[in-house]
Amino acid sequence: MGDIKVRDLRADLSFGAIVEGITYETLADPRIRGQLVEIFEDRGMIVFTGVEPSQKMQVALSNVFGPLKKHPTATTPRVDEEMMPGVIDMHSMPQDPEKDKSGLIEMNGKIVARHAPWHFDHAYNDKLNHAGILRAIINAPKGEGGRTGFADGVQLYKDFDPVLRAKIEHLNAIYTLDVRLSKQPFGRNFTTFGDTPALLRTAEEAKTFPRAMHPMVWTRKDGKKVMHVGPWMCVGIENHEDAEGNALCEEVMQEVIRKCDAKAYWHDWKPTDMLIWDNWRVMHAVEGCNPMYERRTQRTTIEGDYGLGYFEGGKKIGEVNREIAT
Ligand SMILES: [Fe+2]
Repeated sequence: MGDIKVRDLRADLSFGAIVEGITYETLADPRIRGQLVEIFEDRGMIVFTGVEPSQKMQVALSNVFGPLKKHPTATTPRVDEEMMPGVIDMHSMPQDPEKDKSGLIEMNGKIVARHAPWHFDHAYNDKLNHAGILRAIINAPKGEGGRTGFADGVQLYKDFDPVLRAKIEHLNAIYTLDVRLSKQPFGRNFTTFGDTPALLRTAEEAKTFPRAMHPMVWTRKDGKKVMHVGPWMCVGIENHEDAEGNALCEEVMQEVIRKCDAKAYWHDWKPTDMLIWDNWRVMHAVEGCNPMYERRTQRTTIEGDYGLGYFEGGKKIGEVNREIAT
């Protein structure tokens, strides 16, 4: 049987590993499967290199880490819910900003597509998936953007301004399914140019979703504290939606952006890469790319829950799903 090679992602990072040697054969070995789960728990993120670039392999690799979660929204495009449950498809076609700037942003003097500010996935949901496995099938050429950034929440907690951290340690942030950057109230370090029809459809669906609450800091089973808050989808602080609370929220988001940016790992995608991250620990972001290039990424979602999120008004996911199914 083949074996895998494991090394730390980078000597200066508190998280991340690189694993080579993923094949159907190595994935069938229970010892290797156990080893991969241990690395994931310990390092919070794994870059798999030299992997067969197929949905079949993505699902086989994902199954090592737990059952796949069906996506909780109706408007997120899927690959094939029957054959490939939980594989979502994020595909953007080239867009000429001279003709149409909708959905694009301007940041640091550049117009970019597909930017996603620092966040954790399913923040708008009560339950938080344990992990995502992502691959980039089509990406902009090197130097044209399209990297995905990752930052360790355990490190972020340590690095966070202690005075600010003490103020928010026991507070919950409020999140919404409305993912439009044009409506993002906090941590707006960019200019927007209106919304695409797809963004407007999600905004419509968001009206059927209650808002979700998640702690800004939580403690893992191993006792490590995780700073777990980001500007994307966040609309305020629970029980503090007033001028003072909103000013605090802005201060928090600017500190998150500053500190995440300072110690982020930015992944430059190859078609044969797959990458898993612990969605309860590691924050991620997409830098955005030159809109003239097509970009297509696909993600599987590993089920689970850390048990600390809830919907406003005590709604349950089942009630929400029934609402959006109609
Ligand atoms: Fe994400």
